[in-house]
Amino acid sequence: MGIIQDEIAKRRTFAIISHPDAGKTTLTEKFLLFGGAIQTAGAVKNNKITKTATSDFMEIERQRGISVATSVMAFHYRGRLINLLDTPGHRDFAEDTYRTLTAVDSVILVIDCVKGVEAQTERLMEVCRMRKTPVIIFINKMDLEGQDPFDLLDELEEKLKIQVRPLSWPISGGHTFKGVYSIYDSQLRLFNPDKTRIAKEVVAIEDIQSEELDELVTPEHANQLREDIDLIEGVYETWDASPYLEGDLAPVFFGSAVNNFGIQEMLDTFIDIAPDPRPRPADVRDVHPEEEPFTGFIFKIHANIDPRHRDRIAFLRVCSGKFARNTFFHHTRLNKKIKFSNPATFLAQDKSVVEEAWPGDVVGLYDTGNFKIGDTLTEGETLQFRGIPSFSPEIFKELVNLDPMKSKQLEKGIQQLTDEGVAQLFIRELGNRRIVGTVGELQFEVIQYRLEHEYGAKCEFQPKRYYKACWILSENQEKLEEFKRIKGTDMVVDKDKNDVFLAPSKFLLDMEIANFPELEFHFTSEFKTAQA
Ligand code: G4P
Repeated sequence: MGIIQDEIAKRRTFAIISHPDAGKTTLTEKFLLFGGAIQTAGAVKNNKITKTATSDFMEIERQRGISVATSVMAFHYRGRLINLLDTPGHRDFAEDTYRTLTAVDSVILVIDCVKGVEAQTERLMEVCRMRKTPVIIFINKMDLEGQDPFDLLDELEEKLKIQVRPLSWPISGGHTFKGVYSIYDSQLRLFNPDKTRIAKEVVAIEDIQSEELDELVTPEHANQLREDIDLIEGVYETWDASPYLEGDLAPVFFGSAVNNFGIQEMLDTFIDIAPDPRPRPADVRDVHPEEEPFTGFIFKIHANIDPRHRDRIAFLRVCSGKFARNTFFHHTRLNKKIKFSNPATFLAQDKSVVEEAWPGDVVGLYDTGNFKIGDTLTEGETLQFRGIPSFSPEIFKELVNLDPMKSKQLEKGIQQLTDEGVAQLFIRELGNRRIVGTVGELQFEVIQYRLEHEYGAKCEFQPKRYYKACWILSENQEKLEEFKRIKGTDMVVDKDKNDVFLAPSKFLLDMEIANFPELEFHFTSEFKTAQA
């Protein structure tokens, strides 16, 4: 194998996702403990955006500041280099999470066994399904009285619309939780609540019919496990990693993150089965990681809110070839050559400037305004990675300038903030009005504050009652023009000048879909990158 193949085979780039409170932060922390990237529990806690602080955006920004370094956590484990990409748990930053999902090769989804599948889990899973991202499911908090594991599996299949396959199985739960039997390697792990140590009570069980099992977990629980495993073997197909790698089947593990239980087996299995850096679709062709010329794209931009330091960090995912420091690369959108003298990596033990990076790696690039989300860098080839979708926002407000002397600053500010992906900007060409769309109220506070403090522009927001943004496309130009004429002020363009219809209500939207069969109504912008 050449160097590049070696480097690719070593890497696993993934994200942990969950509904807030299911245990993502705790699990992240345990992974880092196993990887030796941190020595004590509690170190990742700062990274978490507190759920209660919904109205206190400064506090969130402070925490976000802390989290720049932890946005990507790279660590070594069993000869692999693991890149764990952090996703904000806060619902208002959901778009950030969706974008991060475009930069990973697989995902671990955490479910709370008491609450089951929650709203945000469904949305996140939808994004994974769209991209056929392989998903491993971790059912957490088995030390609490949760739902029946079989019911949970049914709920997962039904609500997440994916086939599941347990690879470990809990022995009882809640206060009688005994442990987990690994179907993958026929080992039994006995539960011993301990928040600091790594559980060592592992017993290899060659045959679950053996009496040894009765002694270890009581005859009653042993029988239950035998019955359950029988049922599982009867109901589910023999485990095979290929449907998982295709994104059609999710292996399921059970455990308790806070007790450090059931995690190492999942991590070990993850190392075995999770994909190494995969090919990525670009507008003109698919790009394979082992291709020699370097390519990569920007999936996240982190702004410094300190007005004295206006620099931003753009996060680049390397897709092929080798990224090198002080080397000119081609910025395909700007058709411009740029080099980076201080690219940063995120290996916890070693936060130095990086000389080189390989497919699957994430590099932090100091940026003075050259980048927007989705930008592609190459060694010269003109191509654009695709699949960075914008989703229809949920809240819409019109941006109103409060200081006519500062309209230039306002214009520049709102452009830059939306390039970073803080919100989506729609422009109503009629009257040059600006409608800002977001997933949460918090972004409006963020925008208002940052426009004032970073750009010196004062603004306010007027709520607009829109139901959804729909990207409109048609081969029938005449019909499209007719629709735009009829819709008048509800027609806007997005940043890339695509036609967008802001539907005032579900009722009206359904009606127009029926009235205009010649038009396509899309609820994400993905289609347009797919066709570009
Ligand atoms: P999140 O990042 O997904 O939002 O969740 P996080 O890890 O912060 O976990 C949410 C809460 O659930 C935390 O409690 C955490 O300790 C708890 N938790 C995580 N794993 C388990 C588990 O296996 N069993 C039980 N019983 N609880 C678990 P908290 O009270 O919000 O925070 P803390 O004060 O304990 O840190």
